[in-house]
Amino acid sequence: MTTAGESFGDEAGGTALPGDGRTLAILGAGVMGETVLSGLIRAGWSPEQIVATDRRPERQVELAGRYGITMLDNVEAAARAHTLVVVVKPQDMAELLAEIAPVLTPESLVVSLAAGVDTATIEGQLPAGTAVVRVMPNTPAQVDEGMAAISPGAHSTPADLAHVTEILSATGRVVTLPERYQDAVTAISGSGPAYLFFVVEAMIEAGVHLGLPRDTATELVVQTMLGSAKLLRETGEHPTVLRERVTSPGGTTAAAVRQLEDHKVRAAFIGAIEAARDRSRDLAALSKRPEGVR
Ligand SMILES: NC(=O)c1ccc[n+]([C@@H]2O[C@H](COP(=O)([O-])OP(=O)(O)OC[C@H]3O[C@@H](n4cnc5c(N)ncnc54)[C@H](OP(=O)(O)O)[C@@H]3O)[C@@H](O)[C@H]2O)c1
Repeated sequence: MTTAGESFGDEAGGTALPGDGRTLAILGAGVMGETVLSGLIRAGWSPEQIVATDRRPERQVELAGRYGITMLDNVEAAARAHTLVVVVKPQDMAELLAEIAPVLTPESLVVSLAAGVDTATIEGQLPAGTAVVRVMPNTPAQVDEGMAAISPGAHSTPADLAHVTEILSATGRVVTLPERYQDAVTAISGSGPAYLFFVVEAMIEAGVHLGLPRDTATELVVQTMLGSAKLLRETGEHPTVLRERVTSPGGTTAAAVRQLEDHKVRAAFIGAIEAARDRSRDLAALSKRPEGVR
């Protein structure tokens, strides 16, 4: 497992430019594509190192104006850049890969953020031997607190993984895992923000039931969520230890936790996350149907 911040050496022999100065293309610069793009700019990448594509002309104008990058068509971008970050929806993958395949070179590195599309499926649509890395990001990347899991394809090298780790470290943390874990990762960190937002919604609603103004309840809950996450991260303590520290025998927290156990909230989380993992597997199987990535 690789975590962001590890040193991988300098493959290009001393250049100080991020990404070893290589050009990066973001193909399909929608929500997630812009998240990666803005993170790279904040991390010190030069707009000259980045090109991007999108179907809609108004989106192209918007991104060029906001970040000072060059917007190209997919073929021009794929021909110009070393690293191709593919961020279209899974159902748009086959068309995009067919478009760029003819201009790829043996040096091209294809980085796919499309949920549920495996590296073998992508490799099957590209010239033999193309290096592919698969990524499962999550939305907190928008505030540079993302959690991305990356998996190598059949032809990607440790240097490719190091390069992708550097790119994604601009928007948060990165782990490297074998691809067989990607359905579990999707269920935990890909969908995870939604579960935590669900808990936040429920706690705010509870605060309102107890008579607190909604904005006060929101402030109390959001800061409690943020502070609890920081406490976990900074102390490295097990969550059970931290929970027990706020749970005096016979006290208020014990009364609340008893209710959560009675309502089988822990079991509900395990069941929910298993359902997400199963759905991820189903969608991946659909994407392998003979008519291509859907
Ligand atoms: N958002 C997340 O939380 C999240 C998390 C994990 C993974 N992902 C993955 O990230 C990928 C993108 O998601 P998103 O939420 O960013 O979607 P999105 O906002 O729809 O972005 C995709 C963009 O690609 C454009 N596009 C589609 N086909 C194209 C083509 N052939 N050439 C150039 N541009 C093209 C789309 O244009 P149009 O608007 O005209 O269609 C759109 O602007 C998905 O595969 C998703 O599985 C997203």
